[in-house]
Amino acid sequence: MMFADQERDLAALAAADRYRSLLPRKGIDFASNDYLGLAGSDRLRGAVVDALRRGVSVGSGGSRLLRGNALEHEVLEAGAARFFGTEAALFFASGYVANTVLFATLPQRGDLIVHDALIHASAHEGMRLTRADCVSAAHNDAGAFEDAIANWRKAGGMGRVWLAVESLYSMDGDQAPLAALAEIADRHDAILLIDEAHATGVFGTDGRGLAEGLDGRENVISLRTCGKALGCEGALLCGPAVMRDFIVNRGRGFIFSTAPSPLMALAVGEALRIVADEPVRRESLWDLIATAERVLARYGIAATGSQILPLVLGDAARTMRVAGAIQAAGFDVRGIRPPTVPAGGSRLRISLTLNATVADIEALGTVMGEALQ
Ligand SMILES: Cc1ncc(COP(=O)(O)O)c(C=O)c1O
Repeated sequence: MMFADQERDLAALAAADRYRSLLPRKGIDFASNDYLGLAGSDRLRGAVVDALRRGVSVGSGGSRLLRGNALEHEVLEAGAARFFGTEAALFFASGYVANTVLFATLPQRGDLIVHDALIHASAHEGMRLTRADCVSAAHNDAGAFEDAIANWRKAGGMGRVWLAVESLYSMDGDQAPLAALAEIADRHDAILLIDEAHATGVFGTDGRGLAEGLDGRENVISLRTCGKALGCEGALLCGPAVMRDFIVNRGRGFIFSTAPSPLMALAVGEALRIVADEPVRRESLWDLIATAERVLARYGIAATGSQILPLVLGDAARTMRVAGAIQAAGFDVRGIRPPTVPAGGSRLRISLTLNATVADIEALGTVMGEALQ
């Protein structure tokens, strides 16, 4: 048995109700992050078809530092920096890579990263590679961030402090106390890293996100993933010009990787324009959120003030059983288990997108009522 260790591990996952497999896409969408329904939109599709006709290439052909740097990347980055109000932006093939490169590259030996306890796996991946000290702070507790800085300074920490949060948490739908964290960052000469993956396109003026108003500060860097409300793929790191220069020169995951497709860079640029030009998408999403908060409250799902509504059931097996029953009725609601969420925190994650209607939400409520009995 060449793969005995792996087989044993898979068996252990199955025994703990944590074995995963890929499911075909079916049922009404309450699972994707395509919040504004852009992924399949005519306008985005049209932009790509038009670009192909004009001869924009599908592949980039190389790393950005070699032949892979296309006009479409540069145009997107300049447009994104203008849109978000930052000095610069840098495009990556995915948010996972962007976060990994960010955390692995910018904080230096002797620095401290204080991160929210629930920060995304991709930030953890970067922290596995960083030479900085890393410490977790209690979820959404600004005081815990400040205490972590004080404790580290007391123990002799001398370097720069980096505070890392998501603005809208992907599995809980709640928001970071950004104003308080920005104030702490200012007082401690710290840099605030804000993962706007789930807020971009949904919150803020023209969909600029929850970091709107903080973007443009010299001590703020934001990550805008492009595979969620923007309906594309990839991610933009937005911040000071030195951030961009440093990653271009030192970011291994940027330097030693083929540049994203120029076609995708062009599509993301169009998505940013759609988000700004078509506020009706955001308004419709907020109507859906209001309906869901009303309908789903009956089943113990508390409003989060966002498009992400979790119902924590705790037990992984029960969570997957309930999710399976809801899926069998034609609604694509997924169960989320550890390690994506903390142990004992298995949940249904209801994600609201323009791919579902008010009537779908009403019908989902009825099905959930039955599945939860
Ligand atoms: C908060 C957060 N950051 C980063 C990522 C990674 O982004 P991507 O899916 O583009 O790799 C995700 C997506 O799962 C996310 O939820």
